[in-house]
Amino acid sequence: MPGTRMHVPYKARVAEFFDARSGYGRSELHARMAERFLDLAAPQPGERVLDIATGTGFVAIPAARLVGDGGQVVGVDISEGMLAQAAAALAESGLDNLDLRLADAEDLDFPAASFDLVTCCNALPYMADVSAALRRWHALLRPGGRLVFNCWAGNSHATGHLLRSLAGTQGIYVSPVGHDTGTPERCHALLAETGYSRSDVIVEPTSNYLSAEHLNDVLASALKSPLFGIAADDAIRIEALRNEYLEAARSTEVLESLEREVGAYFVVAYR
Ligand SMILES: C[S@@+](CC[C@H](N)C(=O)[O-])C[C@H]1O[C@@H](n2cnc3c(N)ncnc32)[C@H](O)[C@@H]1O
Repeated sequence: MPGTRMHVPYKARVAEFFDARSGYGRSELHARMAERFLDLAAPQPGERVLDIATGTGFVAIPAARLVGDGGQVVGVDISEGMLAQAAAALAESGLDNLDLRLADAEDLDFPAASFDLVTCCNALPYMADVSAALRRWHALLRPGGRLVFNCWAGNSHATGHLLRSLAGTQGIYVSPVGHDTGTPERCHALLAETGYSRSDVIVEPTSNYLSAEHLNDVLASALKSPLFGIAADDAIRIEALRNEYLEAARSTEVLESLEREVGAYFVVAYR
């Protein structure tokens, strides 16, 4: 399970972390990823779509437009703050076929086989038990229906590869974020194990989405996100790690490795 903090359960920490992200709806990085994600998910007119961890609606709102009046989108999220941003965007959109619900995506009670498409953009690693979640979502798909999610290579700068490699010298533990889906082979194996009949992994350069200036955002997020499991109890070592990271993130070696990295995965799996 991703990192825990004493006394506060993991899911409450995830909700707290996202409740505080009041600017998420303006994130160009996440908007760009959601746009590519939607190209590949390609919601069709009339489809019933479940958008897992819908956030501020980067996927759910355009999906509702694409499925049209004959279709329906349900967006679920664990964070009231993110859903409030989605609700504001929905009100502006004029759409009436998107239903936003506060729910844990690992504990949903929709009828079996009730969706044509299940989407999970930029959120799979937050699930406490990724295999169990994939199995549950599989049961919600109609036969032949598809699940679409995205993730990063396990050794990607986007999942804190640089931070992890520096943290060891400070004796700070950083969780291996997204390890289960960290290679295309692991994605295929996990999806086969969890019941999907076939899966495709589209692999793209990381720099299509994450540029040099985002490396600092990765650090800022990792130091707060429950996903990275960094214990905030040693301010001096964390400050040293932060300084080392910021210096390394400007180095030619790291910038070139970011340019070379092919670590953005978009995955389509079929029931
Ligand atoms: C990085 S955001 C992605 C939001 C949106 N899918 C997008 O593409 O912009 C991750 C989202 O996952 C949600 N989340 C994390 N764990 C969840 C869970 N167990 N159930 C529902 N939502 C969850 C968070 O609240 C947050 O809104």
